[in-house]
Formats: sequence, structure tokens, C-alpha cells
Amino acid sequence: MKIFSIDTSCDETACSITDDTKVLTNIVWSQAKAHAKFGGVMPSLAQRMHEERIDFVVKKALGGKYRELNEIDTIAVTIGPGLSIALEVGIKTAREMATKYNKKIVAVNHLEGHILSPFANNAGLISILNYPALGLVVSGGNTQLISIKEIGKYEILAQTTDDALGEALDKAARMLGLGYPGGAVLEKFARKGNPKTYSLPIPIAGREERKIFTYSGLKTAMSRLVESQKPLTAQKIYDLAACFQDTAFTHLIRIVSYIISRPAPQPYKHLLLGGGVAANVELRKRLRRLGKNHNLTVHFPYSNKLCGDNAGMIGIAAYFKSNRNEYISPNLIDRNPRAKLTA
Ligand code: KG4
Repeated sequence: MKIFSIDTSCDETACSITDDTKVLTNIVWSQAKAHAKFGGVMPSLAQRMHEERIDFVVKKALGGKYRELNEIDTIAVTIGPGLSIALEVGIKTAREMATKYNKKIVAVNHLEGHILSPFANNAGLISILNYPALGLVVSGGNTQLISIKEIGKYEILAQTTDDALGEALDKAARMLGLGYPGGAVLEKFARKGNPKTYSLPIPIAGREERKIFTYSGLKTAMSRLVESQKPLTAQKIYDLAACFQDTAFTHLIRIVSYIISRPAPQPYKHLLLGGGVAANVELRKRLRRLGKNHNLTVHFPYSNKLCGDNAGMIGIAAYFKSNRNEYISPNLIDRNPRAKLTA
């Protein structure tokens, strides 16, 4: 089934064509540079840039083999969670395309796209996956550990009470003068540093039974530590980056480990990882180690392009939804900025 998908939930204008779980084209136009000077995403600027870019990105995605929408079976679009005025741009385009070309439309939750992103170009995954499986979304806007009861049925096991993991990494990077978004740069700098040079408090250490992810305390401690180390030398920046990343990941792993160990024996055999921070090599290493200790196979998206916001993952989620006949009329589709994964 060929699906044309659109995602404009935050600061990426993204369109894709997928064929079942195969990604044929996946075009992402990032606005990150434009938002960098504000140190975060400016909703009105995001909306304007989506409006300016969307037609170009649609054309670019259709520029390959599937030139004509006639060859596309279905249109999919992200309805949330995300920035209301940004989501609207993608929804309007999807509605117009579906109406003009008389296509069915599928409304997709952005987080479901992230969870299901390891299915991309990995059709075999469906036959080995048993349920419940675990989903872990680590992005700029969300940190969620999810029980996948079956595809389309989810239960949140833990989520962030304040900053998402990616957001926390971005803020730490900013404190070190590494620009925005800083997760990937922080990772590079951390590789050259020694995490043990400094000590930062692991959030809710010893209180993992709270089953939350929280980064605001760590962020405040990092801010104080950075101030105390000024003027910053290159080596200090490497070590501070390493220390923050190490502590942030240690907290994440401790919560996941706590939850999947209780009750024993843990029922999960597979973990699907998605979201921008899933591109991080150190995090993947730690999750693989966790998997080894808990007899859990960890599945990652096949490319970093499938980790950050993109429409390829929306096409995958839409494929499973269309198999369940979950279509919506173009007149009824609407944004849902606070969309939840659970009913
Ligand atoms: O999935 P995404 O595009 O955002 C949302 O859907 O919310 O993820 C963006 C986040 C940013 O916070 C960015 O700094 C982070 O993912 N990120 C990384 C890496 N690459 C992107 N964080 C850590 N290591 C990376 N290599």
C-alpha cells in the first residue's frame, strides 16, 4: 500500500512516500537554523516557514517514481502532539490533496510514528515481535516508556514530568555554548570527555518506584556546575558534556530497568526505540547492554533520518492504521496538539 505522508508537528517540514513498511522517499526540510537564534522553536516562525515550504517539499517527495498522486493509495498526516499552528499547515495540505485526488486519509499520532519507526524497511520485525513489547520514545518533546499491547494499543508506563530528554540535552549544550539543537554536538563533545571528572546528581536515584523521567533538577545542577567552572576551556567543555550526558542516560536506564524488572519474570522480549535522541551511539550501547541483561532485543530505526522528526515514520504508522480501516473523512480531520497515545 502506497501512502503519501505529511508531518509539520514542530520545526521540520516533512513528506514521504512509503509502500507498506518500505520507505521510498523521506524528505525532511529542517527549520532548526532559523530557530537557533531564539534557543528553541518559535511557533509563529515555524508556521510561516511550513507555509512557505510545504508545496516545495510535497513536490520534492513526489519528484521520484511516484510523480502522480494517482499511484498513491492513501494520504496520511500528523494531527498531534505538536504545535497547533504548525500542525494546521500539514493538515490543510493533506485535506486539500485528499479532496482533490479523492483519496482516503489517515490521521496519525506523531508519537506512534516514533514508536513504530524501527519497522521502516524491516518487514520481518512484525513476525518476530511478541506482545506486550516495549516502546521508548526519546525526542525533543517527549520521553515515554510505553507498553505495546499490540500495534495501535498502548499503555504509558513512565513519562517525563518536566523536560524531555532531548530538550534537557539541548539546554545543557546551550549552557556550554554548543548551539541549538545541541544533542548531537553534545554527544560529539562528550566522546572526548571523562564523565567522572565532575559529579552531577542522578535524578530520583533510589526512588525509581516513582516511575517518572525528570530532568529539571539535573539541569539546575548543571547550570551551577558550569558557572563554577568558568572560564570554560575546551577540555572542561568535553568533560562537562560527558558528565551531563552520562547522568541523563543513567537516569533513563535506571527507570526503564526498574520498570521492566517488576514483576519478575518480565514479560517483554522486544524494545522499539524511536525519537531524535535514538541517534545517539552511547544511548544505543547502553540500551543494548540493558537488553542483554534482561533478555530483551532492542530495535532501532535503520537510519538517523528515521530518528528525528520525519514523515517516513508517519507512513509506517498509517500503514498499520489503514490495515485496521482507521480512515477519517477530510472534512472531519483536525489537529490535536495534546494528542495522547492511549484512548
Ligand atoms: O524527534 P525529534 O526531532 O523531536 C521531537 O519529535 O520532539 O528530536 C529532536 C531532539 C533534539 O533535542 C536533538 O538535540 C536530539 O533529538 N538529538 C540528539 C542526537 N541527535 C538529535 N540527542 C542526542 N544525541 C544525538 N546524536
